[in-house]
Amino acid sequence: TAAQKNGYPHFMLKEIFEQPEAIRSTILPRITMDNLPDLSVDQIPNRIFEKVNRVIITACGTAMHAGLIGRALIEKLLRIPVVVEIASEFRYQEPIMDENTLVITISQSGETADTLASLRLAKEAGAVTLSIVNVKGSTIARESDYVLYTHAGPEIAVASTKAYTAQLSCLYLLSYHFAYLRRTITKEQCAEYIQELKSVIPAVEQTLQLDKKIDAIGKNLICKEDLFFIGRGLDYALCCEGSIKLKEISYIHSEAYAAGELKHGTLSLITEGVPVVALATQSKVYPKMISNIREVKARGAEVILITNERQEINREIYDYHIALPNTSDILAPFTAAIAMQLLSYYTSVHRGSNVDQPRNLAKAVTVE
Ligand code: G6P
Repeated sequence: TAAQKNGYPHFMLKEIFEQPEAIRSTILPRITMDNLPDLSVDQIPNRIFEKVNRVIITACGTAMHAGLIGRALIEKLLRIPVVVEIASEFRYQEPIMDENTLVITISQSGETADTLASLRLAKEAGAVTLSIVNVKGSTIARESDYVLYTHAGPEIAVASTKAYTAQLSCLYLLSYHFAYLRRTITKEQCAEYIQELKSVIPAVEQTLQLDKKIDAIGKNLICKEDLFFIGRGLDYALCCEGSIKLKEISYIHSEAYAAGELKHGTLSLITEGVPVVALATQSKVYPKMISNIREVKARGAEVILITNERQEINREIYDYHIALPNTSDILAPFTAAIAMQLLSYYTSVHRGSNVDQPRNLAKAVTVE
């Protein structure tokens, strides 16, 4: 009802705007006065991390995309191998796991059938299971050895927004905690990371102020048939999420591509006027990204460029530019994800689609 939407035209927009609060509620109760992570509030004992030599993250949809960011974090900070598996694939493979494997399942609803089946498989194999779940007391939460709840509050729109950034919040906390326990980062580094993580909250608030600007960009996409998202590293993981969001609710066909892979196929689809959302928040690969953007621009693409504010850019390489509030590279996923959520939202609204309840999709897929 209108009252539940709290003045917003759709649940999705309301939930997009609830992200500062969702992130704050997920992070703050789990950090100490000295800016160190503390998961004892979740009854997650430190000893479970001692022997882990392999991590598997399994989930579906948007939750799986959060997992892709988690993999990058854990591998960077801990140098422990991590794989991310789509739950519907994982459950029918013969996954390699034992008591030294940490299996992280991620689910907003805690009821997704394939994710639940994957969790059960992991438990049978004797792995340590930890789930990141939004709905309290859901089946996945109950059956996991350990639960790290996202405190995003109820998410009604089918397209997941605040649950995703709350899942990211948990993955950052978990990675910092895990790395500190294993001494791959020092106490000082850990405190710095946490300090930085807290600064994401105001950055997210500022990103929401780009609302009107992104609305105007979305309006220009309504007649498009295909759209591409390109990025490298963390930006590529984000592109996967940006693309699913857009196709779910706008019904525009979209694909996420690792920018360096363009030449191996997708470039043939880039012609005059094809929109390309280019995410370039990672300084390590920034020059490479810029040459990829030039490649698509030279073929007539309409480029929507997303960078940090501090980045100086040549006006010739884009048609629209979304400048995100500055964050460190590692934290850019929060602000970039929100810009892409807004882009999907407004594109869909202008196309007149049923934003909160897209055709053929359900909020939780509890049957196979
Ligand atoms: C459905 C929803 C998606 C969600 C996915 C996984 O497809 O429409 O938004 O990402 O399920 O759901 P879960 O509740 O396990 O996160």
